[in-house]
Amino acid sequence: MRKKIAAGNWKMNTNFEEAVQLAQSIADTNIPEDVTVILGVPFVYLQKIKGITNDNDKIFVSAQNCHQNENGAYTGEISATMLNSIEIPYVILGHSERREYFSETPLLLKDKVDIALKNGLNIIFCVGESLDIRKVGKHQAYVCDQIRQSLKGLTSEEMKSITIAYEPIWAIGTGETASPTQAQSMHKAIRQYIGELFDRKVAENISILYGGSVKPGNAREIFSMPDVDGGLVGGASLKADSFIDIIKSF
Ligand code: PGA
Repeated sequence: MRKKIAAGNWKMNTNFEEAVQLAQSIADTNIPEDVTVILGVPFVYLQKIKGITNDNDKIFVSAQNCHQNENGAYTGEISATMLNSIEIPYVILGHSERREYFSETPLLLKDKVDIALKNGLNIIFCVGESLDIRKVGKHQAYVCDQIRQSLKGLTSEEMKSITIAYEPIWAIGTGETASPTQAQSMHKAIRQYIGELFDRKVAENISILYGGSVKPGNAREIFSMPDVDGGLVGGASLKADSFIDIIKSF
């Protein structure tokens, strides 16, 4: 059985007090038995939020990035080794904002994936096409290529630590969502491709999340698609009520 996951990506939002309150409300929630909740929080709050949510065994915290080296003279950066040393179980890699604003290429992301796995982290690996690519009908090939470039060569065992998040760039923070059918068709293509790149078992067991303007009003329909195993939620994860609604949408 694949994991059903509601992941929040707080991005560079919330001050400390807001972060604590938001995490507290989620920690107090009765999360459905078969749902895993992951909170992608800013680095500086990781330990605090981990402490707040520790007693709820369905909630895990996640970093939103890590460096491709384990240590060294990289002022301002955070390594997978550091995350591991404070027992952070997840890291989000390859978000389109990191690809775009921080020039993260598929090859750099491959290094980040390798170092994160070496340090025992689970990875939410984001992929997704721009509107231009979708308009010319190349979206499936593009997304599969993103997966190939950064994940090819991992073992089936390593793939157990990977969750894919399909996030069409045109749907992130825009209020425009992929239709459930569009999401399903991409998720199915991703799963099929992962089957070719690895094996059928890896493909069947990997959770593929949809991201891009997921809200309480559309989560249920999107999550009901057979190849959609949950969501990576930005804006709507910043309000406890709406994120809790989404958690309960499976
Ligand atoms: P959004 O962001 O839900 O605000 O569209 C999703 C994401 O970037 O992960």
